[in-house]
Amino acid sequence: MIYMDNGATSYPKPPEVAETLIDAMANYCANPGRSGHFMAARTAHEIYKTRLAIAYLFHIDDAGQIIFTKNCTEGLNIALQGILKEGDHVITSSMEHNSVVRPLHMLKAKGVDTHFVQCDASGCIDPAKIKEAINDKTRMIVITAASNVTGTKMPLAEIGRIALRNGILFLVDAAQGAGHMDLDVKKNHIDILAAPGHKGLLGPQGTGFLYIRKGIETTPLMMGGTGSYSDQAQQPADFPEGYEAGTVNAPGIIALGAAIRMINKIGVDVIEEYERRLTEKLQKGLESIPQVVLYGPQDTHEKTAVIAMNIADLDCEEVAGILNDSYGIAVRAGFHCSGMAHKTIGTENRGCVRICPGFYTGEKDIESVIAAVKRIAAEDAR
Ligand SMILES: Cc1ncc(COP(=O)(O)O)c(C=O)c1O
Repeated sequence: MIYMDNGATSYPKPPEVAETLIDAMANYCANPGRSGHFMAARTAHEIYKTRLAIAYLFHIDDAGQIIFTKNCTEGLNIALQGILKEGDHVITSSMEHNSVVRPLHMLKAKGVDTHFVQCDASGCIDPAKIKEAINDKTRMIVITAASNVTGTKMPLAEIGRIALRNGILFLVDAAQGAGHMDLDVKKNHIDILAAPGHKGLLGPQGTGFLYIRKGIETTPLMMGGTGSYSDQAQQPADFPEGYEAGTVNAPGIIALGAAIRMINKIGVDVIEEYERRLTEKLQKGLESIPQVVLYGPQDTHEKTAVIAMNIADLDCEEVAGILNDSYGIAVRAGFHCSGMAHKTIGTENRGCVRICPGFYTGEKDIESVIAAVKRIAAEDAR
């Protein structure tokens, strides 16, 4: 199978991910933070190494402010539901995933008001519109690092500066950015960063993290099972354990560490450029097919490795089905959990096919996808 669904989760994973996971499970993985024996201490140490690898990649000063979650959605929910209060105003974009849109929708009933800044048809946001939307109740700006529909990169540094100057918290949904582009929390003035471990960070599913800058008042969503302060009924307020209720996914987190250490060694800038060149080749190839309609920025420097397309009037699910059944190519079709993004790019009535190369995609894979789309388009035109 030619795997082009890296926007959903990355595949394959680096070999050291499975090796590290199996080693942990076979040789030492106990419950960290509960007991004092050697195995528990080793597990806690290995988990701490993953925190350090994340801190290094995202330029986070205090690794203790990194909470492990089971995915990006959990991190976004902890941040949105744990920080926002009645009367707060939030600014976000029309390109957000429903992992942001739905918690904000739920918070509306609790008196949290959201303003959606309209992006243009390529999914690009004008930071001036964010500035205009600020009022004296604005507590947070929430923006995706890159759209999961079109790959459009958001101007994070500029938005971060606006947030900083106005004393507003800046939360970034790094689901499509982490491991694919530089996400320096300091350079971009990011206060809160939620990321999955299983996409661009190349770790196992069931992993993710949330960074919350020290000093931001937050309430955990889940209570109990921290292993510390066992005599107290109240959930400890300490980071990170107060926010990691219950036994964590220790083998997954340890294996995620192996993946991130590999990314740190290679350099995220090198990965970004490699994926950009693949995307450029794919985009150029698809552009040359007259029946293909492409969405999102044309300049591949302005996007991550995500191609959104349709072929003439063909149903996108049908195209994905043909690619799977006849060509062994795995893509995703439909609305990609982002109804508003489809309205923004004009595909609200049909969705699109999303093709996402990744770290392990080769040039030959790209050529196979272009050839397959060419044949599907030609057969449809007959
Ligand atoms: C932009 C964006 N945000 C959030 C998520 C949710 O991530 P997860 O599946 O890890 O919860 C995704 C997943 O596709 C995404 O693309």
